[in-house]
Amino acid sequence: MAIQYQENGRIFTLHTDHSTYQMKADSYGNLLHLYYGDRTEGSMEYLLTFGDRGFSPNPYEAGDDRTYSLDALPQEYPYQGSGDFRSPALAVEQADKSYGLNLRYGGYEISKGKYSLPGLPSMYGEGLEDAESLEDAESLKIHLTDQVSGLAVTLLYGVFPGYDIITRAVCVKNEGNGPAALKRVYSACLDFLHGEYDLIQFYGRHAMERNFQRTALCHGAQVIGSRRGTSSHQYNPFLILAGRETTENHGPCYSMSFVYSGAFKAEAETDQYGQTRMSMGLQDEMFSYELKPGEIFFGPEVIMGYSGHGLGTLSRSIHKAMRRSLCRGKYKTIPRPVLINNWEATYFDFTGEKILDIARQAKELGVEMMVLDDGWFGKRDSDCSGLGDWQVNVKKLGGSLGSLVSRINGLGMKFGIWMEPEMVSEDSSLYREHPDWAFAVPGRKPVRGRSQLVLDFSRKEVADYIFDSICRVLDSAHIEYLKWDMNRSIADVYSAAGKMAGGDSPGSILYRYMLGLYDLLERLTKRYPDLLIEGCSGGGGRFDAGMLYYTPQIWCSDNTDAVDRIRIQYGTSFGYPISAVGSHVSAVPNHQTGRITPMKTRGVVAMAGSFGYELNLSAISEEDKNCVREQIDAYHKYWHLIHDGAYYRLTNPFEDREAAAWLFVREDKGEALLNTVALETHGNPLSLYIPLEGLDPEAMYRDEDTGTEYPGAGLMSAGIPIPPRTGEYQAFQVHLRRI
Ligand code: DGJ
Repeated sequence: MAIQYQENGRIFTLHTDHSTYQMKADSYGNLLHLYYGDRTEGSMEYLLTFGDRGFSPNPYEAGDDRTYSLDALPQEYPYQGSGDFRSPALAVEQADKSYGLNLRYGGYEISKGKYSLPGLPSMYGEGLEDAESLEDAESLKIHLTDQVSGLAVTLLYGVFPGYDIITRAVCVKNEGNGPAALKRVYSACLDFLHGEYDLIQFYGRHAMERNFQRTALCHGAQVIGSRRGTSSHQYNPFLILAGRETTENHGPCYSMSFVYSGAFKAEAETDQYGQTRMSMGLQDEMFSYELKPGEIFFGPEVIMGYSGHGLGTLSRSIHKAMRRSLCRGKYKTIPRPVLINNWEATYFDFTGEKILDIARQAKELGVEMMVLDDGWFGKRDSDCSGLGDWQVNVKKLGGSLGSLVSRINGLGMKFGIWMEPEMVSEDSSLYREHPDWAFAVPGRKPVRGRSQLVLDFSRKEVADYIFDSICRVLDSAHIEYLKWDMNRSIADVYSAAGKMAGGDSPGSILYRYMLGLYDLLERLTKRYPDLLIEGCSGGGGRFDAGMLYYTPQIWCSDNTDAVDRIRIQYGTSFGYPISAVGSHVSAVPNHQTGRITPMKTRGVVAMAGSFGYELNLSAISEEDKNCVREQIDAYHKYWHLIHDGAYYRLTNPFEDREAAAWLFVREDKGEALLNTVALETHGNPLSLYIPLEGLDPEAMYRDEDTGTEYPGAGLMSAGIPIPPRTGEYQAFQVHLRRI
């Protein structure tokens, strides 16, 4: 059993293959966190120490024992009002307008399989999705209750032993007689009794997402989050706490990934006693959720990972877990079509014939799917109008969508389409008919973003209308892929639905918006099980574990420059599987940076993801066309390594200036693909030696192109020489097979 309960001491132990998590309901009924780290047996209660510490108060039940304080003890789910003055996971304004809360242990349930969360995405175990090699998960529920108000909190834990992953979520039920307002609901909290840690987080901006930043934790909280209604380009809902000495291959590290795509908050703080608390959950600014008697609230899931052997192992566990037990649908396990998207080739300036020309040329070079991006519907020749009017612009396309798609299918290509369902332009029929469907505060002008407004998906009739509009498009032609875009942040958090007048506060709107979106996506994936949906929010503005439940790939960034992408994809790789990274070869000079990189390099970088093109292939040289043919062949040949292999970051592009390198290794170590891109070139260039990882040290490997043979142990200790670079940004791939 992965989950064990020891009656004597009321200790809960959660085991994965390489980690152990432990907590205890103590004699006062407080749930104390005991341990999270390398796998161990037995009780870790000995770690708790008690001392009389000034200004760390004592619960009433402790009587005269001034050494017992929740301000100093490690908590499993800390809450406001308990006498713990660190950052709480739960804060409630009770019906009596107090912040009083006293959560006491009230029992547990252990079950086979993984819990699910109504209306919210979450990881699943065996039996929930038809696929091989799913993890056999177990679940634990721990019940806590507040006698006075009747508030009942259930902590949910899912244990995936083989992935070394534990999930957490929380459910709050009002079993009292009066309404309670939830002011903060975090889903996970980890208290560490001692140790010095670095916080690793992934900040960014539009077109430059998920930069790696590692800073030493000090006294005082480091807080990241999003107030934008989306998980955001600015701070990704993924965090790592690492030992000061932890590297890619050594040392302890802990991660939290939020399975949620809306506003979030995550914190790490070292307290007065040198203890550290890391937590993650819903953004509490502009949040207030009124829970009426009998109502239940679910906080989204947090996926927790632990590795005692560095950041690389941690990432590989997360990759495997998300790939196999979070992503769903037909394309979870089979190769996805190599696509061409017309956005950077045409922007809004296209006709049906132009799209067909792009498709014809692409097909000739081996591309498998044509994706028609923004501009095919309503009045949409710029980004100032048309959103919401999901009727095809027959004049622009020169016919119906159905006829264009048949002609593309006739070329032997699949067809995909772009939509931005959550948005409306003021210059649209939809807005003219239903101005109140867009978020706006009564009596005030709304904040515009990319000249558009956000539809209020917290209202069922709005989401239903959009669902029907999407279905009409998808049913009108043979469409096998949908790019789901979302191009602004949500500013005017007010619903005109009327329910707010009844006492519900705008503080629940962003959460309800997400439930509306998830419900729509769930209905869509059920109705079109074979549809491949690619998530997108101006590139990587909603690159999160929540979206991965519905969209197994996400457009990683609007920045398609190969050199910038090395950094963006490096940062992304810490918390997300390579199969999730939408990545395309585009034209040079690159439209975002003006940089010129070789075609081969653009291919090698884009191949570290779900691969495609985004340029007019008729406009490139014959030499580059041949390169495209080779790239597509290579992608097919290496797909199983890229998609399912173990991923190793061999360099850090934020620090290593000479070259970037990453490696895919088949799970049985029988095959590997090394990728390198030179970043700097200098006179009298030297060979660069890159030590590989994850190979079989006992085996010999052969370079499949040159026939050169290498000892596995040698490749890992002394490295492989990369020939001197003779031009800027040159790329190499080395395909190794065990002999
Ligand atoms: C933002 C996306 O990230 C781009 O790829 C493109 O689809 C545009 N939107 C279209 O408006």
